[in-house]
Amino acid sequence: MNAGSVLQLRPKQMTDTAPMPAASKPGRQAKMTIRGLRKTFNDAVVYDGFDLDLPLGQFISVFGPNGCGKSTLINMISGLMPMDAGEVLYDGQRISETRISYVFQNYREALFPWLKAIDNIHYPLKVMGVPRAERKRRIEKLLAEFEIRIDLNAYPYTLSGGQQQTVSILRALVTEPEVLFLDEPFSALDYEMTMSMREQLQKIFMKTRTTMLLVSHDLDEAIEQADKLVLLTRRPTQVAEIVEIGLPWPRDRAVTTGDDFMALKRHCLDRFWQEVKK
Ligand SMILES: Nc1ncnc2c1ncn2[C@@H]1O[C@H](COP(=O)(O)OP(=O)(O)O)[C@@H](O)[C@H]1O
Ligand SMILES: [Mg+2]
Repeated sequence: MNAGSVLQLRPKQMTDTAPMPAASKPGRQAKMTIRGLRKTFNDAVVYDGFDLDLPLGQFISVFGPNGCGKSTLINMISGLMPMDAGEVLYDGQRISETRISYVFQNYREALFPWLKAIDNIHYPLKVMGVPRAERKRRIEKLLAEFEIRIDLNAYPYTLSGGQQQTVSILRALVTEPEVLFLDEPFSALDYEMTMSMREQLQKIFMKTRTTMLLVSHDLDEAIEQADKLVLLTRRPTQVAEIVEIGLPWPRDRAVTTGDDFMALKRHCLDRFWQEVKK
């Protein structure tokens, strides 16, 4: 899939008077609901009668066996891929009525190589028809929130992998999405860069409380970057368990090497192997 072409799907015109994100409406917990999801590829049934309820405004990770359909799931619920049957609602609204953004796995293909980093970030707002002065104002506001030590006047090929993925994330955030989908966003980065990107993503989450749906094949990451971990079975895929992570944010080293983290990891691993060996 050409990542760069789908930054923000069916963008809604945004103004400063745009409705408050569903998750931040006081008094009740907004939810996303997935009902009766079905997807087959040729003869392979990936999903059949798949249901899932998740709160909005939380960090959700999706973990499961290789090829169980993690990418397929977030591609369908983000509207990138058609489902054979089923319904997905975000606080009662359809995907087309929800502002969403998507960060792809392969940062090398994610940015437009002919645009400077800053112009990559401008791009989704431009597509939405936001005037240049307003775009500049919003981007400056976004950049001011994070310590970005990247020369945004550089072209993507001159940036490191982590810097390119940071630009991809900024580009995904500039539209102030209600839901941000991330499919193994750091899997092509080295260890050190992955650690620092996880930290950065947590900062973004703590600041914005944007609903994040992160697919990961790395159990440590799936626990570290989540309020709830959705553990999937093998195909035809169902939810094996929704694990409440319940660790304090940020997930610093004390948290990620602590007893609670280890206990969660042991629990998830046991569940994972149960599913894989079935
Ligand atoms: N476009 C496609 N055409 C045919 N089969 C596909 C397609 N996309 C995914 N699949 C199959 O569906 C299953 C789930 O794929 P995927 O969602 O990529 O798994 P995961 O992300 O969990 O590794 C796999 O068996 C894969 O081969
Ligand atoms: Mg995948």
